[in-house]
Amino acid sequence: LSNGLALTPQMGWNSWNFFACQINETIIKETADALISTGLADLGYKYVNIDDCWSSILRNLKGELVPDKKAFPSGIKALADYVHEKGLKLGIYSDAGAFTCQVRPGSLFHEEDDAKIFASWGIDYLKYDNCFNLGIKPEKRYPPMRDALNSTERIIFYSICEWGVDDPALWAGKVGNSWRTTDDITDTWDSMTAIADINDKWASYAGPGGWNDPDMLEVGNDGMNYSEYRSHFSIWALMKAPLLIGCDVRNMSAETLEILSNKEVIAVNQDPLGVQGRKISATGNNNCSQVWAGPLSGERTVVVLWNRCSDAAKITAKWEILGLETSTSFSVRDLWKHETVADNVFGSLAASVEPHDCKMYILSPAVSAVSRSNEHLQFVIP
Ligand code: DGJ
Repeated sequence: LSNGLALTPQMGWNSWNFFACQINETIIKETADALISTGLADLGYKYVNIDDCWSSILRNLKGELVPDKKAFPSGIKALADYVHEKGLKLGIYSDAGAFTCQVRPGSLFHEEDDAKIFASWGIDYLKYDNCFNLGIKPEKRYPPMRDALNSTERIIFYSICEWGVDDPALWAGKVGNSWRTTDDITDTWDSMTAIADINDKWASYAGPGGWNDPDMLEVGNDGMNYSEYRSHFSIWALMKAPLLIGCDVRNMSAETLEILSNKEVIAVNQDPLGVQGRKISATGNNNCSQVWAGPLSGERTVVVLWNRCSDAAKITAKWEILGLETSTSFSVRDLWKHETVADNVFGSLAASVEPHDCKMYILSPAVSAVSRSNEHLQFVIP
C-alpha cells in the first residue's frame, strides 16, 4: 500500500501472544517504558500494539467504539499521548466482521466511523482481524477500511490479518502494509517451522510498502529453547517479516533480550533493498539441512544455514545455489558471533550446525586478492 509507510517491515510489540485478553492500560504503559529502558525502542521497535479485548462489549449510544472501562479507564487517547511522549507509536485492533474473535464489536460496515475515532485518539497502526466475517470475501471487506483510514488526517499503518485466506499476497499489496500468510503461530518448534515454510511460498510478493506476515514473534515465551528462538528470529528477519515482539518485555531473560536486540540481524530485516530471502535448498535426512538466503543492498547476500533436525549437521551453501559466480570471493561475517570469520571465501561455505540451531552470515564482495593483502597489512599494523 503506498501510504509512505512500511518501506521496511514494521517493528514493535503486540499484546496477544503473551497476554491474550488479560490486558490493561498499566501493562501497555509499562511495556512502553520497558521498550525504552531495555534499548529495544532505539533498535527500531517503535509500535506498541494493543490486540483484541481492549474494547467494551457494546458500542455507546452514538454507535462509537468505547474502551473497556475497567481495563482502560483513562481511555485510548491518554494512552496514545503517553506512548507518543516517549517517541513510540500506538497500534490498535479491530475486525473486518460483525465481531472481533473475542466477541467485541467489529468494524464491518462501520469502517468510516471507526477509522475516524481511531485517528481522533492518535492511533498510528491498525491490525484488522477476520472473525465473524459473514462469509463475505476478504477482497471485499479489507479495502473499505483502507479507504476509511486514508481519509483521516493521520497516516495509519494498515495490517491485514485474514490468516492467509484467499491468497492475500495476490491482492493485498494495494490494500495493506502487511498481510498474514498463515494461521496463528503457537509457541512451538513445529508451528514456527511450518509457518516459515508457508510464508516462504509468497516471497516474490513482498517488498517496500507491503510485507508477508508470518505472525508475531514467540521469542521469550518459553515454549522453545535458545537455539530454536535464535532460528525463529533469524528466519523472520531474513524473510522480511514484521518483527513484532510477543513476550512480556517487562520481565525478559538476558537471553531473550540478547536475541531480540541483535543489531546485525535486525539490519538484515530492515535492509533498504527489501527483498524477502527464501529457502534455497533442503538436503540430508528429511531435508533437514537447509539453506535460506537472499540479496541485500550493496551487493551483499544473507545466508542462514538452518538445521531442522535433532542431530548436529554439516551444512554447505554453494555459490551456485546462491546465484553467485563460483570464482567471486566474499568476506563472511557471522551475525551471531559478531565477527568476520573469513575474508576471502569462494566456491562454497560450510559449517556444522547444532540441532534446531542456525548460523547466519552476510557475504560481502571481497576486494581483489592483491589489494586485499595490502589492506590486510594496513589493518594489522595500525
Ligand atoms: C486471531 C489473530 O490471528 C490473532 O493474532 C489475534 O489477533 C486473535 N485473533 C485475537 O482474538
